[in-house]
Amino acid sequence: MEPIVNNNKKVVIFTGATDGIGRETINVLAQERGLKLILTARNIEKGNKVAEELNRDYKAKNDELEVSVMKMDMASLESIKEFVRDFKALNIPLDTLVCNAGVMPSTYQTTKEGYEHTFGINHLGTFLLTYSLVDKLNQSTFGGNIVIVASRMHYKITKLDMDHLQSNEKTFSYQNDYSRSKLCNVLFAKELDKKLRARGSNVKVNSLHPGFAVTSLIREWGYFAQKVVGAMAFVFGNKLEDMAEGMASLTLNKANETGKYYQLKRIEEPSKLSRKEGLSEQLWNKSCELLALPQELTL
Ligand SMILES: NC(=O)c1ccc[n+]([C@@H]2O[C@H](COP(=O)([O-])OP(=O)(O)OC[C@H]3O[C@@H](n4cnc5c(N)ncnc54)[C@H](OP(=O)(O)O)[C@@H]3O)[C@@H](O)[C@H]2O)c1
Repeated sequence: MEPIVNNNKKVVIFTGATDGIGRETINVLAQERGLKLILTARNIEKGNKVAEELNRDYKAKNDELEVSVMKMDMASLESIKEFVRDFKALNIPLDTLVCNAGVMPSTYQTTKEGYEHTFGINHLGTFLLTYSLVDKLNQSTFGGNIVIVASRMHYKITKLDMDHLQSNEKTFSYQNDYSRSKLCNVLFAKELDKKLRARGSNVKVNSLHPGFAVTSLIREWGYFAQKVVGAMAFVFGNKLEDMAEGMASLTLNKANETGKYYQLKRIEEPSKLSRKEGLSEQLWNKSCELLALPQELTL
C-alpha cells in the first residue's frame, strides 16, 4: 500500500472497483482532481493491478491522482471490522463511501459467519461497513457522502419477512435472494438517511440502480444462462460508460442530494414496498440485532 498522507483531498473509499461497473467508474474518478481513492479488494493482487493501471493511464493527465488499495473481504464480517480498524488507524478524514461490491451467485453459498452470500455480502456487509464508518463521514469538512449500490431488481420483491431475510439450501433462488438483498440496500439507505437527518448530520446517502450490463456478476452462471442474459442486455441494457458516469456522478454528488433512489443519473421512485411505513426501521433493527450493533448511531 502507498503511504497515505492528509493533503486536504477528498478521501473516497470505493468497494468493488476491481471488476465490472466499479472498475469502469474508477477510471472516471481517476480523472477527477482532488480525490484520494482508496480501493478495497478481497484479492489484494487484483486491487494492486487496478491501482497500477490507473497510475499508468491517468497519472500523466491528472498529477493529483492518488490511489491506495486495502484488503477487505465482504464475505467475512471479521475482515470488514479489520478493514475499519486499519482505516481508522491511518487517522485521515473520510469524505465519501461507495458501497458497490456485490454478488449474484447461482448456488447457495455462505459467508464466513454462515450467512447466505447475497444477504451476507450485499446487505449485512454493506450495513456493517457503512455503520462503522458513519462517524468518520460525519466529521468530513466536505460533508460526507454515501452511495449504496442497489438494483432495479428490488422491485421484484413484494413482501419482506424479518424472520426470513435469507434463504437456506432448500429455498435458495438466485433471483429472489439477489432481489431481496437489493431491496435491503434501498431500505438501508432510506433508514440511514432518516437517522442522519434526525441527528442534524450533514452526511448525504442515496441508493443507486447503476444500469444493466453483462459483467462478472454472472461469472458463476452456466453457459446458456449467460447467453440469455447477454441477449437481454443487448436489447435492454446500458452502456458501461453511461453506468460509470452515473455512479461517478453520485460519488461526487455535486447536487448534494440525499435520501433518493437513482437510476443512473435520474432520481426515480423506488418500489412501493420500499416506501412502506416502518419497514426500513424494522430492517435496521433486525440488522443491528444480527450484527450485535446498537440501534442508535454513534456520530
Ligand atoms: N451488472 C448489472 O447489470 C447490475 C445491475 C444492477 C446492480 N448491479 C450492482 O452493481 C454492483 C457491481 O456489480 P458488477 O455488475 O460490476 O459486478 P462484478 O463485475 O461482479 O463486480 C463486483 C465487484 O464486487 C467485488 N466483490 C464481490 N464479492 C466480494 C467480496 N466478498 N468481498 C469484496 N469484494 C467483493 C468484486 O471483486 P473481485 O474483482 O475480487 O471479483 C468486484 O470488484 C453490485 O452491487 C451489483 O449488485 C449490477
